[in-house]
Amino acid sequence: MTLLYNETSLHQADGAAAKRPVKLAQVDPAQAGRPQTDFVEISDVTLSYGGDEGVTAVEELTMSVRKGEFAAVVGPSGCGKSTLMKLTTGLVIPQKGRIAVDGTMVRGPLDIVGMAFQNPSLLPWRRTLENIMLPLEIVAPHAQRLRKHKAEYVARAEAMLDLVGLGGFGSNYPWQLSGGMQQRANLCRALIHEPGLLMLDEPFGALDAFTREELWGVIRDLHQKKKFTVVLVTHDLREAVYLADRVFVMSARPGRVVLEREIGFERPRPIDLTYTVEFNDIVHELREKIAEARADTPQIGSKD
Ligand SMILES: Nc1ncnc2c1ncn2[C@@H]1O[C@H](COP(=O)(O)OP(=O)(O)O)[C@@H](O)[C@H]1O
Ligand SMILES: [Mg+2]
Repeated sequence: MTLLYNETSLHQADGAAAKRPVKLAQVDPAQAGRPQTDFVEISDVTLSYGGDEGVTAVEELTMSVRKGEFAAVVGPSGCGKSTLMKLTTGLVIPQKGRIAVDGTMVRGPLDIVGMAFQNPSLLPWRRTLENIMLPLEIVAPHAQRLRKHKAEYVARAEAMLDLVGLGGFGSNYPWQLSGGMQQRANLCRALIHEPGLLMLDEPFGALDAFTREELWGVIRDLHQKKKFTVVLVTHDLREAVYLADRVFVMSARPGRVVLEREIGFERPRPIDLTYTVEFNDIVHELREKIAEARADTPQIGSKD
C-alpha cells in the first residue's frame, strides 16, 4: 500500500456537485479482496520489427496484471505501447522473453481477449446489433451455437446495448450514430463473447472531452459489473488515473516499464474525483516521469 488518503473536500469551486465531499480512501488490494493472481505476465520481452537490424520496439519489458485488475499503460509516442498490446494478444511473437495470459503461454492470437481501438471500425453495411454480434460468428464455442441459439444471443447483444446506454439503437447503421455512440457499440462488440481480458488501445482518443468522460463512466461501470481484466493504453493521464488500479509508465523506445504506480482511490469513483488535489498530484507525478522519458527520446533522423 503506497498512500493513505482520508476524507477530503473538493477544490473546484463551481457547481453543487463540486461541493460534495469525495471520499478518497487508499485501499489495500489485499484487504479489498481483490484477486491477487497474475492474469497477464510479461517477462523480459524484446521485440524488433524487421529482425535484428530493424526497429527494437520493446526491450526487456517486464510487467504483470492481476486478475480483475484495471491496468493503464502510458508513455511517449512511439515507445511501444501498441506493440505491447499486439504481443499480449499474440498478434506478434517476441524474439525474446515470455508472455502468458491466464497461465497459458501466448503463441498465437488469443480468443479470450476483446479489443477496442481508437477507430471503432464498425462495418457500415451491418446494423449496430449485427456489428456487435460479429465476434460470435468467429469465436468458439459461440460460432457453432449461434444458428440454433440466435434468439438467446440477440438478447445478450441487446442487454449489452442497454448496459452502455444504447438501448433501442441496435437497428441503426453505424453511420447513424455519433462518434461516442459508435465507441459504445465498439465496447459492446469487444465484450460480447465475455472475454476474460479487455485490451483498449487509446479507445477514447478521438472523442471530445465531454464524450470521453461519459465513456469513462461506461467502461468504469462495465468493469465493475463484469469483473474482467483490463489493459488500457492511453496518452491521457487523467484517464489513466481515473480508471486504473495501477498505471505503468513506459520509457522512450525501446520501451520498458520505468514506473509502476498503484492508484488506490476507492470504487465506484465519481468524476468529481478528477478535480481533487490528491488526484492531480498523481497526474503531475506521472507527467514528470513521462517528460523524463520523452527527454530520452531519440530525435527524428538519428540513427537509433
Ligand atoms: N509493423 C511495424 N513494422 C516496423 N516498425 C513498426 C511496426 N509497428 C510499429 N513499429 C515501430 O515500433 C515502434 C513502436 O511502435 P508502437 O508500438 O506503435 O508505439 P506507440 O503505440 O507507443 O506509439 C515505433 O518506432 C514504430 O515506428
Ligand atoms: Mg499506439
